[in-house]
Amino acid sequence: MENRRPETLERIVTLKQAEAFIEEQIQALREQIRDGKVLLALSGGVDSSVVAALLIKAIGKNLVCVHVNHGLLRKGEPEQVIQVFRHEMDANLIYVDAVDRFLDKLAGVDNPEKKRKIIGAEFIRVFEEEARKLDNIRFLAQGTIYPDILESGPVKSHHNVGGLPEDLQFELVEPVKFLYKDEVRVVGKALGLPDNMVFRQPFPGPGLGVRCVGAITRDRLEAVRESDAILREEFAKNGLQGKVWQYFTIVPDIRSTGIRDGLRTDEWPVVIRAVNTRDAVTATVEDVPFSLLQHITDRITHEVKGVNRVLYDLTPKPTGTIEWE
Ligand code: XMP
Repeated sequence: MENRRPETLERIVTLKQAEAFIEEQIQALREQIRDGKVLLALSGGVDSSVVAALLIKAIGKNLVCVHVNHGLLRKGEPEQVIQVFRHEMDANLIYVDAVDRFLDKLAGVDNPEKKRKIIGAEFIRVFEEEARKLDNIRFLAQGTIYPDILESGPVKSHHNVGGLPEDLQFELVEPVKFLYKDEVRVVGKALGLPDNMVFRQPFPGPGLGVRCVGAITRDRLEAVRESDAILREEFAKNGLQGKVWQYFTIVPDIRSTGIRDGLRTDEWPVVIRAVNTRDAVTATVEDVPFSLLQHITDRITHEVKGVNRVLYDLTPKPTGTIEWE
């Protein structure tokens, strides 16, 4: 029954409830870990960020966070992880710039499942290398949340940074494993994490890699990252952040003719996708105001290198999936 939410755990809705949860967890973590050292893969997503902030409060520098930049993160994300955790929370943070490694491995690979496998396997390899450089690590912290346990049965919790070799098995520390996503967000808020970290939309593990459709190239990946940043900025300015469930841009590997300064261009289209869903199994398309779409189109076609068109994806799920690959 270790993986069943305790009946005594009240649903966390208010900051006061979150503060009580935090106090309890700090005590429990100190009892479990004592003076041991804990390793955490910190992606900057809500779950791992909340786990990091809890552990920093409980054990300070005995937590070692590893942030792997695989080159497929959104604009500003690695910088924010460093700013928040190293500079503001004074955490023990190892930043690994693995951009070239990932992009070299992915060069020329256009099959979506192969891309996912390469990203997943390379991530474990980088994390393993970092873990081997450290001494006396006894615990591995993970941002497992309750839906992960409910959806995958009790096995998944052992497979999150799964794939680590036999000699690198640690005791797991999973302080938010009985919480639902909305509760994790309230706890994050109570821990003082910034809103754009706490209320972040879902982001796939392979990151922008599955939005740079086909074989990833650095220039087209930059077009994905820059157009995504513009879309997010405009959605935030126009009150859509936190209202629309997931929104992002895709750059497929096709070119079309355009015209700029009287000359013909041969450039990519950017596709905007903005959807609402409860469970990601089905999804509807957000009715974004046409004038806002026109404004975003104007910005993307003028500010993003290599892009001459913008399209809006009108397809619900089904028949389209949320991501393009
Ligand atoms: P689809 O595209 O299948 O996506 O409609 C449903 C939800 O899952 C996310 N997604 C992923 N998340 N690894 C992840 O961690 C993945 O490989 C992956 N593929 C899709 C997607 O962003 C959406 O929220």
